[in-house]
Formats: sequence, structure tokens, C-alpha cells
Amino acid sequence: MEVVIVPDAAAGGELIAEAMVELLRRKPDALLGVATGSTPLPIYEALATKVRAKAVDASRARICQLDEYVGLPAGHPESYRSVVLREVVEPLGLSPDSFMGPDGTAEDVRGACAAYDRALAEAGGVDLQLLGIGTDGHIGFNEPCSSLVSRTRIKTLTQQTREDNARFFDSPDEVPHHVITQGIGTILEARHLVLLATGERKADAVAQTVEGPVASIVPASALQLHPHATVVVDEAAASKL
Ligand code: GLP
Repeated sequence: MEVVIVPDAAAGGELIAEAMVELLRRKPDALLGVATGSTPLPIYEALATKVRAKAVDASRARICQLDEYVGLPAGHPESYRSVVLREVVEPLGLSPDSFMGPDGTAEDVRGACAAYDRALAEAGGVDLQLLGIGTDGHIGFNEPCSSLVSRTRIKTLTQQTREDNARFFDSPDEVPHHVITQGIGTILEARHLVLLATGERKADAVAQTVEGPVASIVPASALQLHPHATVVVDEAAASKL
């Protein structure tokens, strides 16, 4: 695992966006796995700026989602599908056809999970998967004690994650209880994992991820098992390393 400490979130966004540009130069139709939450926004801004400045032709890039809420109506502004379309797909000038994600509105949620795992494999696998980290060490929505070999599946959010994500909703009660998430085993199949963590709130989770044992109680520690994992942290998030 490579750990890169940057001065601040903007520098982290810039560094990771540059890595994505280099990937797209090598492989114009790369499948980019994106994450939601506040942390990756500087990456998406930096990448869109580079694409607009024609640093790279991203017109053949493909985008895929890491996770999704279950039960939000189609088009809800906080469904991760809506967020990824708004924050990534549209700013890059891509068509919605270049984008895939699990169907959180499906009646058969388990079927939708299996279908998404198959779709990722049929698309040739994820070339670069961006990850954030929850304050409890979760990646995607793989909460503590998730199996390290898990596949895409339905999960129940912990109270802490629902509280952490309540800021995106009008009231905390609106945060769904259930989600679909790529499993840890699914995530580990991506060719390159890039986790960005910023701010002091993430310092404990980062220290456990990087310096603790590989353990399902800290799902992000599974990155230690990956042959090409990069953890980018600002100084605040690195403060307990
Ligand atoms: C959610 C997402 C994760 C993300 C986490 C942290 O739980 N499912 O993918 O990493 O939030 O979000 P933030 O970056 O806003 O702290």
C-alpha cells in the first residue's frame, strides 16, 4: 500500500485527477469507479477542469458506481445515481449511457446486486476505483464486520453512518436504512484502488486502515491485501499515523 500525504484536500484532488488523466491517456475507454460523499468532490472538479482544458480526451471514459441507497425514488436528488450523474458524468460531458450502477429501485434487490457484479465483470472490470472512508472505516457501504470476500449485496446502515449522511437529506429520518454496495471482494478486483481521506474526523479510521491489522472490523484495512492500492491523505487525516 502506498500512502501519500498532501497538504490539503485540493492537492489530493489534483493528484488523483492527474492519475485519472494518465490512465485515460493509456486507456481511453477505462472504467472508472467513482465514490460519493463530500471527500471526492475536489477530484471531480480537478478532473473536469483538465478535461475542459483538453489535457485528455475523456469522451470514451466509462463510469461506474460503488454503492446506492435502496428505496429512494428514481430521480431523487440524493440517490447516488443522481449524485454521480450530477457531479461526474455531466461535468465530464459524458452521456448517461457511459455510466452504470446498481438499481436501488429494483423489486428484486438481491437479483439487482448479482446483476451488477456480472455487469462489472462483463465490462472488463474496473480500472481505477476511487474510495472515500467512513468515520468507522467503511468503504462503499461495507460497514464494520463486513466479510472481506463479500460480493455486491444489500446491507443495513449503522446508526453512525445514517447520522453522518443525514446532512444530505432534509431530515435524519429520510436517510434510507438499506443500501446496495459493491462487496469488499468486488472492490478488491479493481486494478487500482485509490482512497482519499481528508480532515481530522477521518484520522482514526486512516490510522487503523494503514497501520492496524487487516480485520473486518475496519473494512478499509482490506486495501492492505491489494497489490496496487494508494491512500491519499491530507495532513489532518494523517495526524494519527
Ligand atoms: C458514504 C459513502 C462512502 C463514502 C462515505 C464518506 O457512506 N457510501 O463511499 O466514502 O460516505 O463520505 P464523506 O466523504 O462525505 O465523509
